Parts: sequence; C-alpha cells; structure tokens
Amino acid sequence: MSVFAHPSRRHFLSLTAGVAAASSVARAAETPPLPTAPKMSPTDLASNEAYWSAVAAQYAVTPAITNIENGYWGIMAAPVMRAYQAATQRVNVENTHYARGAFGQDLNAVYDRLAKFLNVDADELLLTRGASEALQIAISGYNKLEPGDAVLYADLDYGAMKSAMTWLADRRGVEVIKIDLPEPATRENIIAAYASAFETHPNIKMTLVTHLNNLTGLIHPVKEISALAKANGVDVILDSAHAIGQIDFSLADFDADFVGFNLHKWIGAPIGCGLLYIRKSRIRDIDRFMNEPGDEDDIRARAHTGTLNFAAHLTIPDALDFHEAIGIEAKESRLRYLRNLWVDDARQIAGVDVLTPDDADMVAALTSFRLDGRRTTEENNAIVRRLIDDHGIFTVRRTGPAAGDCVRVTPALYNAPADMALLAPALRTLI
Ligand SMILES: Cc1ncc(COP(=O)(O)O)c(C=O)c1O
Repeated sequence: MSVFAHPSRRHFLSLTAGVAAASSVARAAETPPLPTAPKMSPTDLASNEAYWSAVAAQYAVTPAITNIENGYWGIMAAPVMRAYQAATQRVNVENTHYARGAFGQDLNAVYDRLAKFLNVDADELLLTRGASEALQIAISGYNKLEPGDAVLYADLDYGAMKSAMTWLADRRGVEVIKIDLPEPATRENIIAAYASAFETHPNIKMTLVTHLNNLTGLIHPVKEISALAKANGVDVILDSAHAIGQIDFSLADFDADFVGFNLHKWIGAPIGCGLLYIRKSRIRDIDRFMNEPGDEDDIRARAHTGTLNFAAHLTIPDALDFHEAIGIEAKESRLRYLRNLWVDDARQIAGVDVLTPDDADMVAALTSFRLDGRRTTEENNAIVRRLIDDHGIFTVRRTGPAAGDCVRVTPALYNAPADMALLAPALRTLI
C-alpha cells in the first residue's frame, strides 16, 4: 500500500526515510503469520483483497512513495527477513568454525531443497551471486564453438547477457548474430523470428533465449523456440531470471540444458542468490573455471565465487517456503491481475502504447509502455521523473528494445489495486 507523495513533501520524506526504514525493520519482527488462502481458483483468489492485504502486510515497505518498480529485485517478506537476520547472527557468532565446518552440510541441504523445488538433481545446480554470474559462466564457458560457427541473441535479451554474447566473437572467434524481435509481439512472430535466423544462418550453434524479458515484460514462447533450436542442432542457454517465482513452469517443459536463474527477484531470497542449472550430461560442455580443481563432471568446478554471503544462501529454503505457502499459481494470477488493472485503464488513453499483449501466456507482472511515440532515453527519463516528482509513483526507464526506450511498470505482492489506479490518471497529465 502506498501514500501519495506531493512534491512539497519530498524534503520531508528524504529526512524521514531513515526513520521509516528503522520502523520497517521493527514491523518485520511483529508481523502476524501468513494466513492460509481461502479455497477458490487462482483467478478468483487474485481479487480477494482480504487475503492479499494479509500477504501485503508481510512486507514492511516504505509508504513514502508508490513503488511499482519491482523488477529490479524483490524485497524479503517478514519471515524471510527474520530467517536472514538469524542466519547472519549465527554466522557471525559461530564464526569461521561454522563456516569451515557445519556450513558445508547446511549448504548441501540448501542444494537439496533447490533440487526438489526445480525437480532436478542437486549435482546439476551451482549457486552464484545472481543470474548474471550464472549466465556469464554458461555463455563464456560454452566450449562447443569453433571459429566459423555463429551464436544468436535478441534485442530483448538482458544487457549484460548481450555483452557476454558479443564477447564470444573475440573469445571463440565466432560470428555473433543479433535479431530484433517484432513489436507488437505475438507468439507466432517471435517463433518466426528465431526460425528465420536458424534458416538464414545454418552455422548458428548456440542461442541465448530469454524466458520473460526485463524490457517489455513479454513471456517468450520458450518451449517452441527450444524445440526449433534442437531441430536445427542449436544449443539454448535460457535466461529465466525473471520467470522463476513469477510464472508457473517446469524445466522439463523446455528440455533445457543450461539455465540461469536468480532467487532474489521473485523468490524473495536475500540479495546475492543466483543459480545455474546444467543438465548432468552437458556439464563437460561448459569449461571449468580458470583451472578450478575438481572432476570434469563436477558442476561446482564451473565457478570460483570466493567467500559468499553464507547467510543469504542459508535463507533460500525460508524464501522457498514462503513462496510455496502462497503458491505459484496464486502469485502469478495476482501479479497479472494487478498488471491488468493499470493496463486496462491505460489502454483507454489515446497516446499510450502498451508494449505487451494481454494474453495470460504472454505476460505476468512486468509491462512497459511508451507515451506519444517517445522513444529516446531522455524522453523516457523525463516521464519517469515526472511520475515520481509530481505523482509519487516510482517506475523505471528501459533501454534495449530495437524499437526504442520505454517505461516499465512492475507491481509486487505488496501493491494494492489502489496503487495501480494511480498510474492512468498520472499518465493523462503527461500526454
Ligand atoms: C532477464 C534478466 N536476466 C538477467 C538478469 C540479471 O540478474 P542478476 O541481477 O541476478 O544478476 C536480470 C536482472 O534484472 C534480468 O532481468
């Protein structure tokens, strides 16, 4: 829930931000337990405000602004925050004796929990600091490329992953091909864009595929693209950073070999939790990291992250427990419901171009818009600035789509319909 922030209150708000943060921590300690959801379909539950306000109460977020920019990372719910505080305390009290001893077993239990969650084996998983690190390991380490081969990526992929793909030109001597995905997107035209690339460039050996992109919020038809890639002898490195915890899927659906995730967005684990999945039979196709010792088939030899945030990783099972207590179907439906509230209003305004289709299999929480065809970084920065300065609504500008910049809106479980209702009237003032 949020409180409208009038410009004249901004100085006051910045002064009170520290106090708000401190009282938020205090509130996390007092939060009542998450109630059980009433028995009804996820679609009906999506608008059950009694239930969702109890869920929202689990998040001690500042009321100083209306934050609908929750695509960066996901704040911890109160029970996860408590578990993280306890783990931090334990690690510091028990010190190196714990880190060099019992932590090993505790970390194995975290891997086992993640393996159960994803329905894979624990020795197919590698914890990292985030999805970037996981995907950089997969992209940079992929050793099936020969000079003359090509790799493929798309304009809607994540910036750091695009850089890693272009780096392969130097690293592996390959041709790097970029496609621009069509706008407006349909499942058919996205699949056709990959089909055409595979047909035009039969030397493509590996492609990056994004599951749910961070620029427009589109859910890509991964199953179809993966099948098409396999049929063309192309390996897929799947970026599921935004999909895990936001939408319901099973890795088995994609016949996936290499997948990067993070757990600090939609799973709500502490910052610093990423994950790489490599199918067991494909581990040798990713180089060991800088002569890291270990068996050729040991996925843990694919990274050397040094001293990690022990407490963050120890808290992953608590985040998964909280996520599962709500359930992915209910969570996905609620997030899409909140997204549809602002999009339905915004679509009535001439000059607002909503960049994702409304089909439930193509969108969930994230959606971006353009105003009056404004496509430059400066124009979109100006929209974001006006929304926060004049209306107290926090969004973010995204650069990356070939068609130009846009502004992204991402509700979280702590947002209420009243938050979403603020956006369309604010947009009318900017047209
Ligand atoms: C699609 C996508 N891939 C990868 C990442 C990188 O994730 P991380 O911040 O965990 O490294 C992000 C982060 O926003 C993302 O949106």
